[in-house]
Amino acid sequence: MTNQTERGLPEPDEQARAHSERVEAHIRRAIADAGGALPFDDYMAAALYAPGLGYYSAGQARFGRGGDYITAPLVSELFARTLAREIARILDELGGGEILEIGAGTGHMAGDILAELARLGRLPERYRILEVSASLRAEQAETLAERAGGLSEHVAWLDGLPDEPINGVILANEVMDALPVKRFRMDGQQVREIVVSDNDGLRLDLAAPDDGLAEAVATIEAAIGRSLGSGYTSEWSPSLTPWLGSVGDSLARGVALLVDYGLPRPEYYHPQRSAGTLVCHYRHHAHDDALVWPGLQDISAFVDFSLAAQAVTQAGLDIAGYNTQAHFLMGAGLPQLLEEIAASDSNRAVELTQESKQLMLPSEMGERFKVLAATRHYDGELAGFSQFDHRHRL
Ligand SMILES: C[S@@+](CC[C@H](N)C(=O)[O-])C[C@H]1O[C@@H](n2cnc3c(N)ncnc32)[C@H](O)[C@@H]1O
Repeated sequence: MTNQTERGLPEPDEQARAHSERVEAHIRRAIADAGGALPFDDYMAAALYAPGLGYYSAGQARFGRGGDYITAPLVSELFARTLAREIARILDELGGGEILEIGAGTGHMAGDILAELARLGRLPERYRILEVSASLRAEQAETLAERAGGLSEHVAWLDGLPDEPINGVILANEVMDALPVKRFRMDGQQVREIVVSDNDGLRLDLAAPDDGLAEAVATIEAAIGRSLGSGYTSEWSPSLTPWLGSVGDSLARGVALLVDYGLPRPEYYHPQRSAGTLVCHYRHHAHDDALVWPGLQDISAFVDFSLAAQAVTQAGLDIAGYNTQAHFLMGAGLPQLLEEIAASDSNRAVELTQESKQLMLPSEMGERFKVLAATRHYDGELAGFSQFDHRHRL
């Protein structure tokens, strides 16, 4: 393994390094218990979510400009405020309803959505957050108190999806990319599974694939109409379909808006993407070595949006739209929102216009990020897909 200094990654401080050593020791025990190797998805699950140790569960996840990576709600309040306007129209059409946000990160999006809905006089019946990380829950409560003041009383946290399916809107921004993936490499026509083993330290190895992975790769090859070719390396998310199935089951009536970076299947498994889409973030350095500093860095992979669409369809939902983030925000009213702000505060509008470039430009987040809308018993129009809709590419 190339060491992190050669990779140009910043050195963690002593405390962080000690934490990562504990995470690595935990993973090495898990490898021994498993008989010498862990499938990559189990490694990723441990590195991100092992109780008290993982990146998300042990308070190591740092978002924003001073952290490891930045997400759209932290780039600009325009993201959440534009989403809020789409949500207001949906709640109007439904005659009320609630919001369920999954994986709320720092809580900025929840705070800014609630504040915008309050400005519009369209507060939801309640705003619930499903968050797996206890430390992020605490951060969310603080951010909400700061950004949405008294409105934070509308917010409640859930340990799992609600017992009763909801009427309203389900939101998940950059959650699907954080679900553990399996990795594989083609050896001729054979699928080999990438596993993590221990040889005086963590290392990647190849093993026979489990049945689910072998079947998934066969389905992918059938769908794209060609074999991937020897050496082709990529990922497949075994939990995406069951996870989206449960999310879909939680929606009785309304709209789920799923935002993430990803591609439709033919582009995801394109010959040019032969090294896969796995990306790790450590203090704004993006790289592909998932074994560096376990517990201190984020690990994620692009979302196969064709698989996501199939999963929600199987759960009985309809696909109401699929767009790039830029096209969605354009349609959902970001330009009008900026004009309104400019009418009362031109200096603020100039700042926000600058921020909007990072959300919208194709070279920034505008094209890499996509929005998938899935609906149940909902016929209203969704403005985010009124100008463009790329459903045919799924
Ligand atoms: C990449 S962060 C995105 C945070 C936030 N949505 C944003 O855009 O800034 C992923 C978030 O999803 C949460 N998460 C990951 N897996 C989850 C799951 N299965 N259920 C609920 N939350 C999850 C993480 O703890 C974290 O809050």
